Amino acid sequence: MHRETARTMVAPGKGILAMDESNGTCNRRFAALGIDQTEEQRRRYRQLLVTTPGLGEHVAGAILYDETIRQTTDDGTPMPRALEDAGVLPGIKVDTGAKELAGHPGEQVTEGLDGLRERLDEYRTLGARFAKWRAVISIGDDRPSRGCVEANAHALARYAALCQEAGITPIVEPEVLMEGDHGLRTCAAVTRRVLDRVFAELRAQRVDLAGIVLKPNMVLPGCDSDERPSPAEIARATVETLGEVVPPNVPGIAFLSGGQSDLDATVRLDAMNRIFPNAPWALTFSFGRALQRTALQAWGGDPTKVEDAQRRLRHRLRVNAAAARGAYDPRMDEAA
Ligand code: G3H
Repeated sequence: MHRETARTMVAPGKGILAMDESNGTCNRRFAALGIDQTEEQRRRYRQLLVTTPGLGEHVAGAILYDETIRQTTDDGTPMPRALEDAGVLPGIKVDTGAKELAGHPGEQVTEGLDGLRERLDEYRTLGARFAKWRAVISIGDDRPSRGCVEANAHALARYAALCQEAGITPIVEPEVLMEGDHGLRTCAAVTRRVLDRVFAELRAQRVDLAGIVLKPNMVLPGCDSDERPSPAEIARATVETLGEVVPPNVPGIAFLSGGQSDLDATVRLDAMNRIFPNAPWALTFSFGRALQRTALQAWGGDPTKVEDAQRRLRHRLRVNAAAARGAYDPRMDEAA
């Protein structure tokens, strides 16, 4: 079952909408735009996203947060049902966040394994078909440490095994962060090292690799680096790095956007699919910010702006779906 769901999640020309911001993160984004930080405003915003006309044309899945999977749309439809009705698989973020890793200043480990079997059972009854767990790895002096990489990889593998036991497809997300002044090659080396360890742990925990979706960072220079590689250089560095460590039976790789601009994320995904049309795995998107940014700004908490916001989300979905086929044309954005 988890294999079939994994294949569906990365079906050709489709991606995944990440809308699983925790209340804290969602509130911070609302505060920056002067939107009330209430449960009801978060519900209205998530309703706007899941009821976007044509959502299912471009996304195969949407990742929800614990609060959202329990909420309903105005007419009382549970959010997961609203997604299913739109032809979109509901997913759920199940980690409980990245916490300071003891003995490793400046590094974090993602928590949430305690009680996870029971929580997965509940999420399944609420309609979740897949799950997500995000580990964060930072680059800097002596970072990432061996302890940080191993602890995060182990937790990801334990989570993935529990998901498959529950008939839920795991998104395995080890994110190497963009913060720092490191270059492209450093990011490539760290990403390779992290993924190598993640796959060793996944195998050790007997995770069926044909029944997962990998959600990594693209290989990029740090935000404070002077390097300005082209989309083609980034595409090559990313796919070549992944090619060294990601087994070909993994059905799909759905990238996070990680703070890239909307356009950069799209153009780089497109370059990967143009340059590597025969990559062994689907190469698609599971963006959060790079899909939602313009929609959230347009809405701004104003009920009269819902349609405009949905139109903007739909546009970013359409251009990224094109990029997932290597068929993005910059004129699509100029015309918008
Ligand atoms: O865990 C991170 C999100 O699912 C993806 O968000 O595309 O804004 O980095 P992002």
